Amino acid sequence: MSLKEKVLKQLMQANGEYCSGAMLADLFHVSRTAVWKAVEQLKGEGCCIEALTKKGYRLTNLSDLFCPQAFQDLVKDCRTGWQVRHLQVIDSTNNEAKRLASEGAAAGMVVLADRQTSGRGRMGKQFHSPAGGLYFSVILRPQLPLMDMMALTACTAAAVHQALMEFGIPTQIKWVNDLFLNGKKVCGILSEGEFSAELLRMEYMVVGIGINLRKDPDLPEELQSIVTDLFTETEKHVDRTRLLAAILRQLERYIDGLPERTYLPVYTQNSCTLGHHVRVMAERGLSTALAVGFSDDAGLIVVFPDGSREIIRTGTAQIID
Ligand code: BTN
Repeated sequence: MSLKEKVLKQLMQANGEYCSGAMLADLFHVSRTAVWKAVEQLKGEGCCIEALTKKGYRLTNLSDLFCPQAFQDLVKDCRTGWQVRHLQVIDSTNNEAKRLASEGAAAGMVVLADRQTSGRGRMGKQFHSPAGGLYFSVILRPQLPLMDMMALTACTAAAVHQALMEFGIPTQIKWVNDLFLNGKKVCGILSEGEFSAELLRMEYMVVGIGINLRKDPDLPEELQSIVTDLFTETEKHVDRTRLLAAILRQLERYIDGLPERTYLPVYTQNSCTLGHHVRVMAERGLSTALAVGFSDDAGLIVVFPDGSREIIRTGTAQIID
């Protein structure tokens, strides 16, 4: 571990309290100037460290930092060997995860970024990803029937919902891949993968998750009425390391339960789509119908005004009333 990493670990363990330069220098058998240089390096990488004469250094943005040691401790009981590759900035964590997966990266590899320059959503939409969010993509190699691939996105939504419940945050799930809080979007999920025509199964899946944790002062005008963040809605500083670990623990549980559809009760009970009239692309074209339930593979069951039913598996369901 480099001096910089040791200093960061020590500051994190101090939980926002001051650590004196002399104490750190003694602990790591280096000069106080070396400690100061390590702190300057950490600041340059975006760590918010306050320095006060006679008191020392302290972290002021504890909840925003990703701490690999704390993370490993939080996921130590998982069957999956979750490994996080943490980047400060990337075009899209899904792109990076797909690149790694195509080079043979194992299931359980997670690409985490502090911000994305070209974050992507479903249907070619842009996903605004400034600093202050949790953006990551998980590489999975599930041995599941093709029918379960759509369910994987829904099961991820259930996992994120349950993880946020651990922090006392009750989100609602909008079919198929969005999480809402007080009527505005706080999280989006994008699943992508590589199909092997030879093996007739998915080579790999990449599940990308983006959660807005803090208010974005530069949120584009057109998004202000539809997008929000956890802090604005709950006044809670959700710790990135703990939230990431909680989501991955829940995801493992729900993926293991996919054959038995264990995600469906949570997905159904917390849906903000069911019971509403929605605009969907049906076999008969763009139509309005009542959303009444989900099929086993997370398709949306709708009833048309003439009483006929259809399971919608593509596109979105725009809520009308
Ligand atoms: C959507 O809103 O339609 C899905 C948004 C998914 C965003 C996440 S952020 C991490 C990962 N990287 C991306 O480029 N997209 C996903």
